[in-house]
Amino acid sequence: MTSTDKPLIVTCALPYANGSIHLGHILEHIQADIYVRFQRMLGRKVYFVCADDQHGSPIMLKAQKLGITPEEMIAEVEKEHRADFAGFNITYDNYYRTNSPENEEICTKFFNTLKDRGYIKVRKIEQLFDPEKQMFLPDRFVKGVCPKCKAADQYGDNCEVCGATYSPAELINPYSTISGATPVLKESEHYFFDLPQFEAFLKEWVKSGVLQSEMSNKLQEWFDQGLQQWDISRDAPYFGFKIPGAENKYFYVWLDAPVGYFASLKNLLDRSNTDIFDFVQNADMVHFIGKDILYFHSLFWPATLKGCDLQAPKKIFVHGYVTVNGAKMSKSKGTFIKASTYLKHFNSECLRYYYASKMNGKIDDLDFNLDDFVAKVNSDIVNKIVNLASRTAGFITKKFNGRLAETVSEPELLAKFSAIKDTVMNSYLNREYSHAIREIMNLADLANKYVDDKAPWVVAKDESRSAELQNICTMALNMYRILITYLSPILPELTAKSAEFLSVSLSWDSIDTPMVNSEIKPFKALFNRIDSKTVAQMVEDSKEDIKAEQGKPAEKAKPAKAPAHDEEAPAQISIDEFAKVDMRAAKVLACEAVPESKKLLRFELDLGNGEKRQIFSGIKSAYANPEELVGRFVIVVYNLAPRKMKFGVSEGMILSAGSGDKDIFLLSADSGVKPGDRVM
Ligand code: MSP
Ligand code: ZN
Repeated sequence: MTSTDKPLIVTCALPYANGSIHLGHILEHIQADIYVRFQRMLGRKVYFVCADDQHGSPIMLKAQKLGITPEEMIAEVEKEHRADFAGFNITYDNYYRTNSPENEEICTKFFNTLKDRGYIKVRKIEQLFDPEKQMFLPDRFVKGVCPKCKAADQYGDNCEVCGATYSPAELINPYSTISGATPVLKESEHYFFDLPQFEAFLKEWVKSGVLQSEMSNKLQEWFDQGLQQWDISRDAPYFGFKIPGAENKYFYVWLDAPVGYFASLKNLLDRSNTDIFDFVQNADMVHFIGKDILYFHSLFWPATLKGCDLQAPKKIFVHGYVTVNGAKMSKSKGTFIKASTYLKHFNSECLRYYYASKMNGKIDDLDFNLDDFVAKVNSDIVNKIVNLASRTAGFITKKFNGRLAETVSEPELLAKFSAIKDTVMNSYLNREYSHAIREIMNLADLANKYVDDKAPWVVAKDESRSAELQNICTMALNMYRILITYLSPILPELTAKSAEFLSVSLSWDSIDTPMVNSEIKPFKALFNRIDSKTVAQMVEDSKEDIKAEQGKPAEKAKPAKAPAHDEEAPAQISIDEFAKVDMRAAKVLACEAVPESKKLLRFELDLGNGEKRQIFSGIKSAYANPEELVGRFVIVVYNLAPRKMKFGVSEGMILSAGSGDKDIFLLSADSGVKPGDRVM
């Protein structure tokens, strides 16, 4: 067994307290929980901790918008988050909060130590300031025209149209997204963590194999670009901890967030009067994170620890993003699924299994394919695993008073099941859960073949073959026992129910000990088949969640068959959402009716810079002579995803207005525009 004597600290990234837990977050917590459960199974003492990440401008501003204090908001959210993780059976030893006395104490201690050792620098910088709101603006709260490509409404740090990165002060016509005011440049003193002093240490640390290879390459790129000092202070108003010895200055949320790992641990260790700093020096610490927050975990955090003479993390396990049906989770498609919405429709184990079956320890994105989900859960858990027990347990109960045979009749066959123990162990330890599942399912096939070949339902008809029947069922239930033990870190509820019905304890060490001559309890349904109707319902509910979030009352009690033309108030969108629509002037190069279609005209458009596009528009009824449109300027939604239609691909949308039929008018952009000009 590989269990070492050192305690193991395991963390997941602290979720922000300004939104709900969704199935993207859940991937990380499931991945870590499986790892933790397996380590515990091997006998290792694990401290699995997490917390809500409760500070920062977005949280402060969101609470303001809701008309409550940040403290009230984060308390509500924390309750919700805890319930979500409990719903997925994530076995935290402590789930805590960053807005806590423990966190403030450790942050202050770290800061003072770093300052005394010359790792903190102070200097004045100029930043955009909102004169109305009287606050400095974080990059994401300033928008304006991109200095490179002149696209409107781009964020203060980078342009989503041309990909340029710049500082917010470079934006043309900047405005504050909070008040709309034009920001002014204002000077203020900031505190910096002197990261470059840790370059040599970090380079050594990375060599120790803490990161997956793709991620250490990423780090190499950052080293090549040169490490920068890190701005760790923010001016009031801010929701966070005050910097000791400074007027109206706060620690930047990303300083106190990783310290939150320690705060959660301290809150736990204080219960047994254990000193956290002694503790962490004699433990191994591993972090599970998404690839978007590598920078903070692989540079600032280990350097901070080093600067305070503490051990850096042993491993940083990075994962990719969850996509749904091959695309980014989308609110409008209903694929932005909250943990709580999922749990209203499905048991947590379905997703735990599905995610595990696709986890390979790499940083690739993981696709949650909704059809595949239903198929895999039913075929693997129900048809292959649970079926083994359901097809055989009844005979033991009915014919043998629940008693199993005295010996296993085919020990060689059972030995094949114990033989994959090391492979399964290594797969779990390397987070290659998909590999473990493949091995386990291969054996499940073998077990089912055994039952099919032996056909206990035929044997049961012949009283003289009673011993044989008991042997077959005892074999099948032993195979089931081993398979479910292997799966137990992934499927804890099914494991608990199975242990109860088999009346044995299912542990790693008991895998090789056959279950014989003992009594089992009557078999009860262990797992329900799932269906795609429920998936559709979950997707529908996720769309409702979004509407509710946007201030519309959720219409949960809608009858199943609402009239299709049900008049609904148009869903509101924010200015940010509207700003995403890129509208441009285009010149009609050609226009013709699509003969096979009642409605469609096919346009060929000039969008400037030599770009030509084809767009189909359903306005045939209004333009009997489409060729007359040639030469006109129209308004086009430029960044609409292309759509494949029966007659070809439509690359955008042409805007028109009117009451329908003959009364539809193309919106013109004829006054002095050129193709490609932006419509504002
Ligand atoms: N609060 C910071 C983390 C501080 S850790 C000291 C944060 N919070 S977050 O809520 O935005 O993200 C929490 C974790 O969830 C991150 O590891 C992030 O990568 C992960 N995920 C968020 N969306 C995700 C997907 N769609 N898919 C997979 N993981 C994703 O970052
Ligand atoms: Zn740009």
